Amino acid sequence: MITKEETGKYLDENKQRFLDELFDLLRIPSVSADPKFKGDVKKAAEFMKAKFEEAGADNVEVCETAGHPIVYADKLIDPKLPTVLVYGHYDVQPADPYELWDSEPFNPVIKDGKIVARGSADDKGQMYIHVKAFEMMMQNGGVPCNVKFMIEGEEEVGSENLEIFIAENKEKLKSDVIVISDTSMIANEHPSMAVSLKGISYLEIEVTGPNRDLHSGVYGGAVANPINVLARMIASLQDENRKVTVPGFYDKVLELTQAERDEMNKAPFNLDVYKRDLKIEDVEGEATYNTLERMGIRPTLDVNGIWGGYIGEGAKTVLPSKANAKISMRLVPNQNHHEITELFQKHLESIAPKSVKVKVIPHHGGMPYVTPTDTDSYKAAEKAFEKVWGKKPIPTREGGSIPIVSLFKDILGLDSILMGFGLNSDAIHSPNESFGVENYLKGIETVALFHQYFAELDK
Ligand code: BES
Ligand code: MN
Ligand code: MN
Repeated sequence: MITKEETGKYLDENKQRFLDELFDLLRIPSVSADPKFKGDVKKAAEFMKAKFEEAGADNVEVCETAGHPIVYADKLIDPKLPTVLVYGHYDVQPADPYELWDSEPFNPVIKDGKIVARGSADDKGQMYIHVKAFEMMMQNGGVPCNVKFMIEGEEEVGSENLEIFIAENKEKLKSDVIVISDTSMIANEHPSMAVSLKGISYLEIEVTGPNRDLHSGVYGGAVANPINVLARMIASLQDENRKVTVPGFYDKVLELTQAERDEMNKAPFNLDVYKRDLKIEDVEGEATYNTLERMGIRPTLDVNGIWGGYIGEGAKTVLPSKANAKISMRLVPNQNHHEITELFQKHLESIAPKSVKVKVIPHHGGMPYVTPTDTDSYKAAEKAFEKVWGKKPIPTREGGSIPIVSLFKDILGLDSILMGFGLNSDAIHSPNESFGVENYLKGIETVALFHQYFAELDK
């Protein structure tokens, strides 16, 4: 049985190596979205395999898929003991735009107590916490329960092959709970645990006008300009109260009771600090909801990219033939991404003027997820956080999505505990992504203690 004293001691003796190993992983540019990095993604998978073996895991495998591989490992000590399945991802988002980084994205450095590199927080640093917690347990009397690991390389591109993998490997993945560190906490002084993730519907719009680019003087004002039309349609997708105007969009949304809203609003949140951090004068969002609620419990719609026409140096007078946009809608409990995508598609077709052709191309999607909190696993996680961070973690609702989590529930019948150690200020997916050294090291202790408390509670 591992204690806080032992985790603290082992950490002190090994922290430099723990950091060095994570740095080695961060140096591998495992960008899943860009085929140019395919070999590096593979290298990261092999790196994980080696580290699981060194830490004492059995059945370590790099499982090939139609896309990037999944790394599996386990330590099964007793079928009578409960089993924890750890999920994480070793792939990262592209580092672009490179010129906005203060240091090289794939050459980690420590700056102001934080590890700066692409993937430091999302999710290599957080995922590697579990490998080192496993080592820590193995070196201090062994794991207190069975442990399985499933680390994928396609989270940032939709986890399509992982969905196939879990459907084909139900027996292998059989466990009692899934644990994931891929979300954030409020602050190091206010530890918290996410209890929900948003769903997502992601799609692209293509507006086509005339059969070729035209002279904007000769034809302008007489032929529909696809960019003008696209801008008009997008602007109409939200009303003056910032409600999404797609008919049926809110129909299935589970509204929280006032008591539930009051409860979530007890979480420490300072709007001034939030605005200062983002250098904005004001926030905006759906009327009658505050910022915490807009982020955590309300469905939203955002343009993620928009292009068309001439965007090079200087001016070129052109009425473009095409305009495009990428749109994400973040969904909350009870909304279904297939339904929402269809509603959006129908709505856009209905508002499209005859003067252009509009095509809506669905990309990936995912369902929202809520973690039940009346379970041994949630209680064990709460206890571990309290032991290491000094305070009981506050339950929070995340704006981000991990689409595979609802599929874990549907396909494997398993709930997920979201033990996230990142901070919103980590700038995940952005230039200068970072992860606190303290968050990394304390995360290792928290995860090791979680296993201990979970095994005890289950008895
Ligand atoms: N780790 C994030 C999700 C996340 C971020 C959850 C912050 C909670 C707080 C994950 O890697 C991610 O980026 N997910 C994508 C999903 C998409 C690729 C389907 C997202 O949320 O945009
Ligand atoms: Mn992630
Ligand atoms: Mn991500």
